Amino acid sequence: MSLVKRSTHGCPGGLPVLLLTACAVAASLAGVPAAAAEPSTLHDLAAAHGKYFGSATDNPELPDTAYAATLGSEFGQITPGNSMKWDTTEPQQGQFSFTKGDVISDFARDHGQTVRGHTLVWHSQLPGWVAALPASQVEAAMTNHITEVAGHYRGEVAAWDVVNEPFNDDGTFRASPFYNAMGSDYIATALRAAHAADPDAKLYINDYNTEGLGAKSDAMYDLVSELVAEGVPIDGVGFQGHLAVQYGFPGGMQQNLKRFADLGLDVAVTELDVRMQLPADAAKLATQATYYRNVVEACLAVARCVGITVWDYTDKYSWVPDAFPGQGAANLYDENLRPKASYDAVRTALGGDDEGGGGGEPGALKARYRNSDPAPADNQIKPALQLVNTGAAAVDLSTVKVRYWFTGDNGVSSYGTWCDWSPLGCSTITHRVAAMSSPKAGADHYLEVGFGSGSLAAGSSTGEIQLRLSKTDWSNFDETDDYSRTTGTSYADAPKVAVYIGGELAWGIEP
Ligand code: G3I
Repeated sequence: MSLVKRSTHGCPGGLPVLLLTACAVAASLAGVPAAAAEPSTLHDLAAAHGKYFGSATDNPELPDTAYAATLGSEFGQITPGNSMKWDTTEPQQGQFSFTKGDVISDFARDHGQTVRGHTLVWHSQLPGWVAALPASQVEAAMTNHITEVAGHYRGEVAAWDVVNEPFNDDGTFRASPFYNAMGSDYIATALRAAHAADPDAKLYINDYNTEGLGAKSDAMYDLVSELVAEGVPIDGVGFQGHLAVQYGFPGGMQQNLKRFADLGLDVAVTELDVRMQLPADAAKLATQATYYRNVVEACLAVARCVGITVWDYTDKYSWVPDAFPGQGAANLYDENLRPKASYDAVRTALGGDDEGGGGGEPGALKARYRNSDPAPADNQIKPALQLVNTGAAAVDLSTVKVRYWFTGDNGVSSYGTWCDWSPLGCSTITHRVAAMSSPKAGADHYLEVGFGSGSLAAGSSTGEIQLRLSKTDWSNFDETDDYSRTTGTSYADAPKVAVYIGGELAWGIEP
C-alpha cells in the first residue's frame, strides 16, 4: 500500500509555498515536540563551561567503527597517543613521516575537533639515532625536529606538548639526550623553536605525578615561573592525570592547578585515566568514579583550566594492562564500549543529567528499516521503521527516540514531517527534523521519532511505522548518499538508524 494513500494529513507536492508552510506548521502543532533536548555529549557539557572534553586515540583503533563513532561524537578534542611522537615522525635523522599523524588530524577536522599535538621532545619513544648523536649535535637535531613537525601541523594542532615528562618523581631534572647535552636550557630552546614553527599553537610542558601539591609539582612550578619571568613562549602546563585507585587521590589538585593558572598560564588535564588492580569490583569502580569526578570538579573550579583529555575513552584500548600487568579497567567506557559509573560521574560533575550508563543496560531495542521509497530523487523521504525489543523486560516507549539521518541537499532548511501509518496509531508518534550542528558525511539533518506513551513488551515489535518528510519549499532530495538509507526493500536490522533510551544510545552507530 502506498504511503501517501494512507496519509491523513499529507501535503501533496506542487502546492503553493504558503499553503505548504501552513501544512508543515499544522504537522508541527499536531505532534512535533518544539524543543526536544539533544542528548548532550561530554564535550557539549564541558563547552557550556568554556572547556573541552577530549580523548586520546591511536591509528589502529580507527577502523573499529563503533569506537570511531563515539570518538567522533562524544569528544571535542583528540590527542594522538603515538603517531606524532619522534619515533614515528622522524625514525631516521632527517626522514620525516607524517602519514599516521595526518590520519588523526584529518579525523579531527572531519569531526569538528581540535588536536593536542603530542609530543615534540620526550626521552621515550625516541629513535636510537638521537641518543647516539654527539652532544654537540643534539640541539640542532632537536630544533630541526620541532621545526619540521610543528611546521607540518601548523594550523592543524591547537596545542603542543612541546616538552614531555622533564622531571623525575623527586623533582630533579630527568636525564635524557636533551638534558645531557644542554642542561635544563633545552626546555626554553624547545619552546622557542616551537613558537617559531607555529606561532598560533599553545605551547605546553606536560608531566605526570604533578596533579597534586608535592615535590614534583613544586619543581614544575619553579621551572615555569622562571620561563614566564624570562619571557620564554609558554602558554600552558599539562597535568597528565594517570591515577590509580590504590594510590589515593592527589592532594590539593585544585590549589595546584590554581597556582599555575595564577602565573598567567592555561592548565589542562591531558591524559586522564584511573587504573585499578584487577579484577575490578563495585567498590573500586565507585572509587574510580569519585576520582574522575574530583578531577572534573578541580578543573571546573579553575577558570584557566581549559579542558580535560582522557587517555583513550575505553578499556578496550587502554595502555594500562601492557604497562602495569594485572591492572586495568581505567577508562570511562568498558571493553564493550558501554559507559561505566565513571562516565556518569563525569557527566554529572559537568552539570549533565545521569543518562543511565553506570554499567547498567540501557535496554535492548533494535531498529529495523526497509526502503519503501522507489523515488530517491523526488521531494519526499519516506523511511519505514520498526523497533523490536530484544531484551527480557518491557521498554517504556515514552523514553525512546529514534534518529534517521539524511542530507537536506539544496533548498530551504525547514521541514514538514508526517506519520502516515502505524499500528500503534500515529497520534502517539512524535516526529521532527533537526539540523546537525556538525554535519557529517551523508548527514546534515535527522528525522527524530518518539512516542507519547506506550510500552513495548519483551520480544515484541512496534510493527511498521510509516514516516514521511519534505522541505517546506518541496525541493527535491538526492537520497542516494543519505547516511541511514539502504536500498533493501524488506525489513533488515538498521545499524545506521539510532535508538536512544532515556537519552542514551541503545542501538546503532551515529554518523
Ligand atoms: O607499534 C609497535 C608494534 O609494531 C609492535 O608489534 C608492538 C609490540 O609491543 O609494539 C608497538 O608499539 C607500541 C606502541 O605503544 C604503539 O602501540 C609500544 O610497544 C608501546 O610501548 C607503546 O605504548 C605507548 C606508550 O605511551 C609508550 O611510552 C602507549 O600506546 C601510549 O598510550 C603511551 O602514552 C604515554 C604518553 O605518551 C605520555 N604519558 C604517559 C602515557 C602512558 O604511558
